[in-house]
Amino acid sequence: MSAHDLIIIGGGPGGYTAAIRAAQLGMNVACVDENARLGGTCLRVGCIPSKALLESSELYAHTRSRLGAHGVGVGEVTLDVGAMQRRKERIVGTLVKGIDALIAKNNITRYTGRARIVEPGRVAVSNSDGESLVEASRIMIATGSKPAILPGIDLADERVGTSTEALAYERVPDSLVVIGAGYIGLELGTVWSRLGAEVTVVEYQDRILPGADAEIAAEARRIFERQGLRFDLGARVQGAGSAGEGKAQVTIEGRDPITCDRILLAVGRVPSTQGLGLEELGVGLDKRGFVQVTEVFETSVPGVFAVGDCVGDPMLAHKAEKEGIACVEGIAGRPVHINYDAIPSVAYTDPEIAAVGPTEEQLVARGIEFRKGSFPFRANGRARCLDATDGLVKILADAKTDRLLGVHIVGPRAGDLIAEAVAAIEFGASSEDITHLTHAHPTLSEVVKEAALSLDDRAIHK
Ligand code: NAI
Repeated sequence: MSAHDLIIIGGGPGGYTAAIRAAQLGMNVACVDENARLGGTCLRVGCIPSKALLESSELYAHTRSRLGAHGVGVGEVTLDVGAMQRRKERIVGTLVKGIDALIAKNNITRYTGRARIVEPGRVAVSNSDGESLVEASRIMIATGSKPAILPGIDLADERVGTSTEALAYERVPDSLVVIGAGYIGLELGTVWSRLGAEVTVVEYQDRILPGADAEIAAEARRIFERQGLRFDLGARVQGAGSAGEGKAQVTIEGRDPITCDRILLAVGRVPSTQGLGLEELGVGLDKRGFVQVTEVFETSVPGVFAVGDCVGDPMLAHKAEKEGIACVEGIAGRPVHINYDAIPSVAYTDPEIAAVGPTEEQLVARGIEFRKGSFPFRANGRARCLDATDGLVKILADAKTDRLLGVHIVGPRAGDLIAEAVAAIEFGASSEDITHLTHAHPTLSEVVKEAALSLDDRAIHK
């Protein structure tokens, strides 16, 4: 039996980064994952492959429709989905190898197999060779999440699938119905819409992106509708499966069913904690099945820790990474503190949607008095040159102290622009502080400054 200081169950962004940090801190670390390719959902079937396809589909769409205005002519534009998918696989493969090299460089012991916690300090790892026991003074659960499944959805039908399948279609479906207007539905809906599919997004709520600021989500919806995405809002999906004759069908309460070629189910994710022995061990779970942890990420069982998607929202790779690193630093006796209001989120649609801090609706619900300002991209020179004038930056600041509370963006490169707001919120800056910073001209970041100026009616180009 092998003995370690720490065994981490799960090699995704939460687990593998924590393993590396723990090794840097001098711990003897092991990492177990049932998949031989580390990187988790994010790298194998999530963030990275979707961004590869988003880039490819954007290039295709822009080449077809936007080059002419620049005076650039091309011949017939063709599409080879197989080549697009192989490029995606190469990117994933390269990054997987990179993680392998980091794990080896940091002398982290790897186990490939399914892990079950037998008792505190002991993990059984089973694979095709049988079962082995691994001992460690501490155990970290970083097993992530998996797609939520609605009742009545026949996933056995090859036309019905989750994001995993929608990342690997071998040809462009003529019509795609996406169930759920969240991050996954909008990102993958955008990919296949740009490549030529007729995409309908069916959403239970009467708006898209329920977690996002309502004004930003409404603006995003207008932009996506102009691009050709159809939204069927306030629609409760009851089932999905085969419609015969090679077609699939989505049934919706009180509405006509929709017949299509493919169905993508994207109605959220649930913690992936089954088979780990948590119930037997007495690890506390909340009513949605998330592992309950203290502020140092320890579960109700001493010596057993948990981080990432399996402990709750937001289910984001960088949040998992932050928690994993904070957790091992805590184990090493260092201070642990995470400001969840300073964790950004980004939807990589076109234009991107990015946010940090509470939304306007959340501030109202928390009873916090605030002032708000906003500025559109259409008045920005760089956005004009990029042909990307849709969207706006919205800034929320404390009514009394002017402390920056939330920044919400729909617009070009929103995912990059949000970094300034993350730094500002983390460092406790005011909206006025943003106005004092010199934003290079001509850049999209000037829209952030103008939005901050607009809080006091001082925006220059409005
Ligand atoms: P989500 O929680 O973002 O959205 C799910 C949507 O499905 C909601 O709008 C919900 O109202 C709707 N829905 C639920 N039941 C329904 C029904 N019966 N009929 C119609 N609509 C229904 O979940 P999503 O998009 O599956 O993403 C899962 C997680 O993955 C999220 O927590 C997200 O943070 C993360 N993610 C993050 C990405 C990023 O940061 N770029 C990209 C992809 C996923």
